[in-house]
Amino acid sequence: MAVDVILGLQWGDEGKGKIVDYLAEKYDLVCRFQGGPNAGHTIKIDGKKYVLHTIPSGIFRPDIINVIGNGVVLDPITMVREMESLEASNIDYLPRLLVSRKAHLIVPTHRFLDAASEASKGLGKIGSTLKGIGPAYMDKTGRNGLRVGDLTAPDFENKYKTIKEKHLGLIKLYPDISFDLDAEEQNFFECVEKIKKLRFVNSEYYVNQALTEGKQILAEGAQGSMLDIDFGTYPFVTSSNTISAGVCSGLGIAPNKIRDVIGVAKAYCTRVGSGPFPTELLDETGEKLRTVGMEFGATTGRPRRCGWIDIPQLLYTIMLNGVTKIIITKLDVFDTFEEICVATNYSYDNMISSELPFDIVDKHIDQMYESFYGWNESMDSMMEYDKLPLAARNYITELEKLLKTKISMVSTGPEREKLFER
Ligand code: GDP
Ligand code: IMO
Ligand code: MG
Repeated sequence: MAVDVILGLQWGDEGKGKIVDYLAEKYDLVCRFQGGPNAGHTIKIDGKKYVLHTIPSGIFRPDIINVIGNGVVLDPITMVREMESLEASNIDYLPRLLVSRKAHLIVPTHRFLDAASEASKGLGKIGSTLKGIGPAYMDKTGRNGLRVGDLTAPDFENKYKTIKEKHLGLIKLYPDISFDLDAEEQNFFECVEKIKKLRFVNSEYYVNQALTEGKQILAEGAQGSMLDIDFGTYPFVTSSNTISAGVCSGLGIAPNKIRDVIGVAKAYCTRVGSGPFPTELLDETGEKLRTVGMEFGATTGRPRRCGWIDIPQLLYTIMLNGVTKIIITKLDVFDTFEEICVATNYSYDNMISSELPFDIVDKHIDQMYESFYGWNESMDSMMEYDKLPLAARNYITELEKLLKTKISMVSTGPEREKLFER
């Protein structure tokens, strides 16, 4: 009876989907606790690529129950698209997918508001995925939101109308954006009918009952800790608590039920959207990381910004999450690199510090780097950790020392089987 957590330690896209899919086998339930269709979790099985946005990444494992928790914001339109893509691949998800009645809904005008808000910010835009995440969480905390449980209420259409009118009033405060409300609304209501075939549950009771019965739960994070609404690089963040604390409020699980917090980090670092990125490489090395690592957003297709791994940043998110184990992904991306750098410390305000400053958005930070030899060898055919090149294993050992936390697994490719225990 325990809850383990998998979450991202950087700015998202660390490879959480692949790791959850791999580890899900050992659990009874996989539960998403926050975020929404801004997430894009890629899983490669038998040569086929799947991208999940709202559905938990345990869905490809037979017998495992997948729960969309109360902390998630769900868009019926993207949800139906995801359901249809699973159906097209003959994945029998329906009996194994549960949705919290308390999860909040994203309606079309949330997406329009997201776009209008970004347009009003000009150069200061956050780089949102424009999936309506911010406006939906604003309505949740503003106590105006619609929830999945409302979909089956007789007055749902009235409730929808009230929130829509409020949004249309707000949109007038922003620069003009074009949107086709009628078409989106029609699609929305068609999708609402389709998602009613899913099983809506009081998920806080469901997951706690599962724990009482001795079941094992894996909580799947979306985004990354540096995008956390409280502790990320505010305001260039998302609108939910992406750190381990979000598991408790996003699923209704008490803190003492959490066992392992498994943090996922790339062997380097990426960020998509605007905001500070202390180790960003704007040169050809950054371009090489993007090309070799195929660093293009799984949700928006935007090129991801790339840079070296950042130890102060990771020590910060290890601290915030209470990380017990780390999994390093995408080590293979360095196969053709002569030299690999690691930022070990920051320098700002005439001092050396490993603490992220409050004003990280405005402050100029210099990094102190340590460099390591590359291995100039393809890992593609190496199917055991101990068979990986010595320089690659040395890089992992050095990271482990710098992060003062056990690196339990290393991933060397997008496929399920390219994940090795140490
Ligand atoms: P998530 O949002 O954390 O689930 O990550 P994404 O799916 O957005 O991005 C991770 C990308 O890296 C996906 O395209 C994965 O298929 C890919 N990937 C995951 N692990 C590895 C790895 O070890 N090596 C390589 N080369 N690609 C990986
Ligand atoms: P996964 O789960 C990477 C980023 C956006 C933007 C900021 C706010 O795949 O790791 P939002 O749409 O939430 O208003 O955008 O957060 N962002 C992500 N970046 N991976 C994600 O999810 C992200 N979800 C949001 O690019 O900078
Ligand atoms: Mg992603």
